[in-house]
Amino acid sequence: MAAGVVSVPIPNDTYKLGFIGSGKMAESIARGVVNSGVLPASRIRTAHLGSSRRSAFESFGVKVFDRNVEVVEDCDVIIFSVKPQIGSSNLGTSILSSEPSSDGLDFLGLASHLMTFFHISSFIASSTTSVGLGLWRLSLNSYGLGLFPVLTKAPSQPPGSYMVKSSEPYAGALYMGLLLLCHMILCLTFTCRNSLYTHFFGKYYILLFALAIMLFNGFAVKEVVLQLKPLLSEKLLVSVAAGVKLIDLQDWAGHSRFIRVIPNTPAAVGEAASVMSLGAAATEDDGELIARLFGAIGKIWKADEKLFDAITGLSGSGPAYIYLAIEALADGGVAAGLPRELALGLASQTVLGAASMVSKGGKHPGQLKDDVASPGGTTIAGIHELEKGGFRGILMNAVVAATKRSQEFSKR
Ligand SMILES: NC(=O)c1ccc[n+]([C@@H]2O[C@H](COP(=O)([O-])OP(=O)(O)OC[C@H]3O[C@@H](n4cnc5c(N)ncnc54)[C@H](OP(=O)(O)O)[C@@H]3O)[C@@H](O)[C@H]2O)c1
Repeated sequence: MAAGVVSVPIPNDTYKLGFIGSGKMAESIARGVVNSGVLPASRIRTAHLGSSRRSAFESFGVKVFDRNVEVVEDCDVIIFSVKPQIGSSNLGTSILSSEPSSDGLDFLGLASHLMTFFHISSFIASSTTSVGLGLWRLSLNSYGLGLFPVLTKAPSQPPGSYMVKSSEPYAGALYMGLLLLCHMILCLTFTCRNSLYTHFFGKYYILLFALAIMLFNGFAVKEVVLQLKPLLSEKLLVSVAAGVKLIDLQDWAGHSRFIRVIPNTPAAVGEAASVMSLGAAATEDDGELIARLFGAIGKIWKADEKLFDAITGLSGSGPAYIYLAIEALADGGVAAGLPRELALGLASQTVLGAASMVSKGGKHPGQLKDDVASPGGTTIAGIHELEKGGFRGILMNAVVAATKRSQEFSKR
């Protein structure tokens, strides 16, 4: 938001909440918000064409539109809950379209996977057998034909959504250019029919294809924010996309009334550990409103965004460390003679109980440990083994390693 422009307050009693992206995270937040009574379902919106995602939201009263623009137009607070990057599974829908897909077959995605597989496998075969060379030739033709659907309207997309449609027109053009370049290199390869050229250009083609995919990495959130940009002024914006920084989000949205939140997967059971950081134009009231929403799916803290890599290393990745610990405790129980089901139940409830003692009891975990370790008893014998194995150091190292990994991702 430009300097000096005052953020219009969000009307607490009447505001509407919209989700761009209606996946697991959006559903967890929406369900939590409705169940906790923070907001009635009648004031929540999302968009999707697929019947399973639509009915997931409609089942608890959320209105589901066909298009993202309808969500933005109707809502005051917008939560972007799409993937931060392009995964191979949504290559067809997310790179080239700015709308959610239907449940139907993703023709372009499927075709691009098949063609890639066909090309690479027949390239490998072509270096050894003449049948392989023939197959590769055939794949060249199918590849040429396969370009046409990219330029046409996809049958499963919402009305007005074309496969090559982007607020950054060069993105579609660049993608198409790279594909055509690959195509030309393949043609040249076949013209030469010299095995040396075949190897050289074939490998070059594969590199170019990888480059094309890398260039589009990170477009999921960016593309959707850019496309909706003309409608986003005066809205309070929130992103839960992992690893996407406020500075970029604000740049794409054209204003800085943006809040970035990192939740974690226990959001699905209402036990998320979330952290938020406020963009330059987000007000204290905005922060409180978002804290109430995310408070409905667990606990939320406020922190400087520069801590987000460490937060990712601790609470973002942390659930996986604890799953490992629960599984190992259960294995120990089985090794000591317990039936598997009983061992798993005891292990998970023990972790839950211990976590509640720390978060609800108010005592330091070191004190709680001392309280249960009686002299010469069973617990101190177990703790001794953990200390010999470097248990604490291993957990600390895990958090530091995950933080470093997150820093590497942030620098890309
Ligand atoms: N799950 C978690 O616990 C968790 C934890 C921390 C952070 N996050 C973050 O939350 C975000 C969402 O994660 P998720 O687990 O909910 O993923 P998800 O289940 O894959 O949901 C993403 C949803 O976005 C939709 N979508 C894709 N492109 C779209 C577009 N252009 N317009 C509108 N909708 C679009 C997808 O539609 P289709 O059905 O067509 O694919 C899908 O329904 C991610 O950025 C992730 O980093 C999630």
